Amino acid sequence: MAEFITVAATGDVEEGAAKAFEVKGAEVAVARSGATLYAFSDICTHRHCNLSMGGEIDGTTIQCECHGSMFSMETGEVIEGPATEPIKTYGVREQDGQIQVEA
Ligand code: FES
Repeated sequence: MAEFITVAATGDVEEGAAKAFEVKGAEVAVARSGATLYAFSDICTHRHCNLSMGGEIDGTTIQCECHGSMFSMETGEVIEGPATEPIKTYGVREQDGQIQVEA
């Protein structure tokens, strides 16, 4: 059954940047954009670069720094290639000053 796992304090993820955490063995990136938190696989489905390493956030999308693939942080779908496979997304919430990812 899915549960929420605390990964960081609220202030640890700043606006416009993604930060990676390990959640039950998976590398999960958490990003804050426009006061909304998103959680998604940190691993680009193209050639496995870490999206949290310099990935550019714009609204609800993140663009991989390696070859420019762009993904929706809401749904994980590919907005722009070369990646063809979506990234996994996770539920995320802020509660009592903590960021929690559903896993
Ligand atoms: S590894 Fe991300 S676009 Fe190539």
